[in-house]
Amino acid sequence: MRKKIVAGNWKMNTTYEEGEKLIQEIIEKKSAVKNDVTLIVAPPFTHLCCFAEPLCKAGIGIAAQNCANHEAGAYTGEVSAAMLASIDVQYCIIGHSERREYYGETNEILLEKVKIALKHKLTPIFCIGEKLSEREAGKQFEVVNAQLQSVICQLPAADFEKIILAYEPVWAIGTGKTATSAQAQEVHAYLRKVLKDTFGVAADHTPILYGGSCNPTTAPELFGQPDIDGGLIGGASLKAADFISVANAF
Ligand code: PGA
Repeated sequence: MRKKIVAGNWKMNTTYEEGEKLIQEIIEKKSAVKNDVTLIVAPPFTHLCCFAEPLCKAGIGIAAQNCANHEAGAYTGEVSAAMLASIDVQYCIIGHSERREYYGETNEILLEKVKIALKHKLTPIFCIGEKLSEREAGKQFEVVNAQLQSVICQLPAADFEKIILAYEPVWAIGTGKTATSAQAQEVHAYLRKVLKDTFGVAADHTPILYGGSCNPTTAPELFGQPDIDGGLIGGASLKAADFISVANAF
């Protein structure tokens, strides 16, 4: 049995006041979510410190959207994994396609981030996925395999067991174009096979989330697939009712 996880990636949205209201709404609605579903919220850095306690009390996980690839020092504007851990952040999204594309985060940098996050006991939610041109060229498996090989497959087995993976086809993120459940399942099954080839049966326990225009309408069919263990939700996580109904889509 794998964990069922629904994580909300707020990206660069909500002022503090708006975020506080959204958190309150999510906490109020949380009782409607089945106990076997782990809910995680990833608000902007500025909100993390104040949200950690109420979320923890409500049994909801808290994630950062990024962390630095260095321990500490002269890196103006960066936030370290140690800082996040010190305010009880539990998870960290690493390798989101927006970070790879707009901030030049390479697989090399992402491996450093994953290692530092793990060192500080943050659970990485590691994102991979192909671009539209790569999908059109039939290269989706090649692309996600390379992303896995250069980061996740470099980890020692004991660290691998702590990872959450998210498959997010870039063409489906924020576009309203969800991958079909068959397209998503095909890639998820492939990812699990690649992980099994490296780590053996431990890969049976790795949660693999789907992300990319996942919403209350598309989630039920996606979450019904054998290798899809939940979702990383962008747009639909900014409305409490939608986020909760995605969490109830299993
Ligand atoms: P979306 O974003 O749900 O708005 O497509 C998903 C993500 O980027 O994690």
